[in-house]
Amino acid sequence: MTGHICEIAQLGAPVLRELSEPVEQVSSPEIRQIIHDMINTLTSTQGVGLAAPQISQLKQIIIVGSRPTARYPHAPLMTPTVMVNPGFEPLSDVKEKDWEGCLSIPGIRALVPRYKIIKAIFTDRYGNRVEQIYEDFIARVFQHEADHLDGKVYLDRVETSLDIISESEYFKLFAQS
Ligand code: NI
Repeated sequence: MTGHICEIAQLGAPVLRELSEPVEQVSSPEIRQIIHDMINTLTSTQGVGLAAPQISQLKQIIIVGSRPTARYPHAPLMTPTVMVNPGFEPLSDVKEKDWEGCLSIPGIRALVPRYKIIKAIFTDRYGNRVEQIYEDFIARVFQHEADHLDGKVYLDRVETSLDIISESEYFKLFAQS
């Protein structure tokens, strides 16, 4: 099965605001194709995660694939993980604000409050139910991608418009630190 590089839905596309359906059978040809397409599409970008609605598929599938890139120079390295029907519970009430961006919202970064430590529960691409604890950046990516399945984008969680900046200014911040 070959994956394609798909067009990424951009903010304003109605598909980004709809609810995704649970996946019934991870091994079905339709779902396997979507997963291949998501992996190929994410690999073709500088992104650290992708949700199925971003390739216009309203299925509960995300990929969390943190790695250092030009967009996220300080991201930890992690094997890209396909997560089907993902859910999570925060393991503490503590939220932290940090920078996020989104392939569906190019040119913008914003500070977003997210739970610092979570227990994620999902089905992997082989059909196994997995529980995994994530902290900090990876927990952040997980929560960002899970939001896409609820028709939310990270700008919905920004506390003030003062926390929204252009990507060019964001890179200046990193150049100074
Ligand atoms: Ni996103």
